Amino acid sequence: MNAFKELLADPAQAVADLVAREREPADIPDGYVSPLVGDPKAIQWFRARRALSFYAWDIYTGAAIAHYRAQKPAAPAPLLKSIGACVGELPPEAGARLEQEFLACKQVPWRDQRPDGYSFDPFANPWSTPAYRDTITAHREMSAGLEGALNVALTLIAPAVEAALGHYWSAGAARVYAHNAGHDGGMHTDGWPLGVRKIMFYPSGAGDDQGSTVLIIGEEPKIIRGGKGVWTVFENSLLRHMARAPLPGQPPRPTIEVTALPAFRNDPRIKGHGIHVGFPWLPPDIDGLEGDKVPAAFTSEAIKQRSALRALMLAADLPSDGKAPEGCGGLGYLDL
Ligand SMILES: [Fe+2]
Repeated sequence: MNAFKELLADPAQAVADLVAREREPADIPDGYVSPLVGDPKAIQWFRARRALSFYAWDIYTGAAIAHYRAQKPAAPAPLLKSIGACVGELPPEAGARLEQEFLACKQVPWRDQRPDGYSFDPFANPWSTPAYRDTITAHREMSAGLEGALNVALTLIAPAVEAALGHYWSAGAARVYAHNAGHDGGMHTDGWPLGVRKIMFYPSGAGDDQGSTVLIIGEEPKIIRGGKGVWTVFENSLLRHMARAPLPGQPPRPTIEVTALPAFRNDPRIKGHGIHVGFPWLPPDIDGLEGDKVPAAFTSEAIKQRSALRALMLAADLPSDGKAPEGCGGLGYLDL
């Protein structure tokens, strides 16, 4: 019998304990190691939540696409389907305002802030330590001024992003930082739910000297180039990509990353101001389901509680080594 099953004796307490184990200090010291490392129960819990999160986002994305096709049957196929990445440039005034507000934001050390308490990198990989992050990037704290400029920018590009994705979308979290010269990122895919995409803004422009994002489309590397306010939305979990640092001697390159979440209407308002750009582990439109007109079983709280219990039950059955069970076609829980 899996020792983890003992937790099912008191599920509510078990969920509370596991969530508490995932909590991390507000100020993370250099070289910090997540409490999940070396904690098999906490890792099984993480994997179960991740599997259910991806399932929820898949279903939600499918529903958002079906809704969009029903509302706009004549809309063409999503541009990302054929070209993988769309690039645009803000009108000069909006680009200049974004740059001005970015540069006025206070610089802050890297911290690990996670929307909805859900960790997407619980294993304290070397590239997630504060010392490393503060070497390659200089983070800034979102100001009211930048939030306003970003809202204008996202409103301006909303129709283009909709055409790229083929469904309505909502802004999620934003991450505000400058990429320092001389520290390229590694080639990777983000490994997010496939319906959750990333929008990148470059308030001071991007290109060969300033640095940029390099995407592998087909076999070809494509570098995003443009003036102030150039932006891109791309298949960040399907296309391999990397951050290209500014050339030595160039100033740090301002960057704003925004998550584009599938949705049932466009909503450009930023919902989270983390230093991580992330996404909630459950689709966001379930927040705020309260009151007389919502069935008791479908209040936000009831849905979240059932989801936590499902994660607990799934975690109880997951193999402790994290490997795929027989008959899963080799797919591990981190590949879903
Ligand atoms: Fe990435």
